[in-house]
Amino acid sequence: MLRYFTTGESHGEALVAVLSGLPAGLKINQSDLDRDLWRRQQGYGRGGRMKIERDSAHILSGVRHGITIGSPISILIENRDWKNWQESLPVAEGDPEKHKRVNSPRPGHADLAGVLKYNFAEARYVLERASARESTARVAIGGLAKAFLRELRIEVLSHVIAVGATRLPEGDVAWEHILALAHRNEVLLNCADPELEQRMKEEVDKALRTGDSVGGVFEVVAHGVPPGLGTYAQWDERLDGLLAQAVMSLQAVKAVEIGVGVSAAASPGSAVHDEIAYKASTGFSGFIRARNHAGGIEGGISNGEDIRIRGYLKPISTLRRPLQSVDFATREPVKAAYERSDVCVVPAAGVAAEGMVGLTLARCALEKFGGDSMGETLRNYQGYCQQIHNY
Ligand SMILES: Cc1cc2nc3c(=O)[nH]c(=O)nc-3n(C[C@H](O)[C@H](O)[C@H](O)COP(=O)(O)O)c2cc1C
Repeated sequence: MLRYFTTGESHGEALVAVLSGLPAGLKINQSDLDRDLWRRQQGYGRGGRMKIERDSAHILSGVRHGITIGSPISILIENRDWKNWQESLPVAEGDPEKHKRVNSPRPGHADLAGVLKYNFAEARYVLERASARESTARVAIGGLAKAFLRELRIEVLSHVIAVGATRLPEGDVAWEHILALAHRNEVLLNCADPELEQRMKEEVDKALRTGDSVGGVFEVVAHGVPPGLGTYAQWDERLDGLLAQAVMSLQAVKAVEIGVGVSAAASPGSAVHDEIAYKASTGFSGFIRARNHAGGIEGGISNGEDIRIRGYLKPISTLRRPLQSVDFATREPVKAAYERSDVCVVPAAGVAAEGMVGLTLARCALEKFGGDSMGETLRNYQGYCQQIHNY
């Protein structure tokens, strides 16, 4: 069973992630993991923090001579910013004069609910763990899951559908375009339409000018997924439900859509459901569709089309023109505490969601095909592919 945990504070020494359950014999390329970490740091509208960090996955265990050995894998990602925080956020008690307190809760953050829940006098510890810096650790182990899926010829990538009110028209962006975006060495807003991307940039510029922030929509596409991952047999084994939780668990994601889920609710069935045809030797089984409104999942099972899942991000909560709040100590009205912040993170959130989708699909694939070594897993996978090919 594939299981994982992350640990670490936003301004602590490092983030650590542990992934257990990958088969032995999977080749791991450090550069692929670091490339995803770099992609997560990109995008127009990021704050000063991303200029400080140079994220790199330092593998501590579970990989030897470039391959997984079946043991739990732990990865450490150093926080370069730590050198600026050693006195204000030490592990030991340190000098309370030097601690950086967050004296008023910031609307849209976990601050207020967190202090009430954990009984803290101020919100520093809440912020440190609720921060999306944590998603860096998920990208690192998500990279391991993506390496595993690549052996099954499954690729997981993302692109941006909307920033603020600027949005791509309905219709699937072709896989080739999404692939080309992932190879770019300069990332603006990771949108496949360059003209629209410029208009998205203008949305971010406006937010920067006015001390405001923007949200948007990303889409993760999993290409090459065979029919048969997940099942309708039990509610908590449905692939749509598992993916929805994985993507929704990312900071600032407030809605998840699979395929054309949102517009489908207002459309007649004839305009929504994807008709089925047959063409021998095409795809996994010869059964094909002219379109993919279902986003690759029907009845909680992958159906052999690309899986398309969208995450809707609220605008970033921290505003340079802070919203109204209350001082924890005096209970007097004050402007919310301000801490250096991103203004737009839609492309970065897409990369983090790739990791989460990768981990979820890898878990489902391992549940279906099993195997303690890659040889065993691939043998099982190929046997299944042969079975559906011959169906
Ligand atoms: C990649 C990424 C980076 C983020 N950076 C910031 C940031 O710099 N400032 C901020 O206020 N929120 C940022 N957020 C969102 C907050 O972490 C999130 O809104 C907050 O923790 C409250 O959680 P919730 O929105 O899930 O309820 C970021 C989110 C993501 C996915």
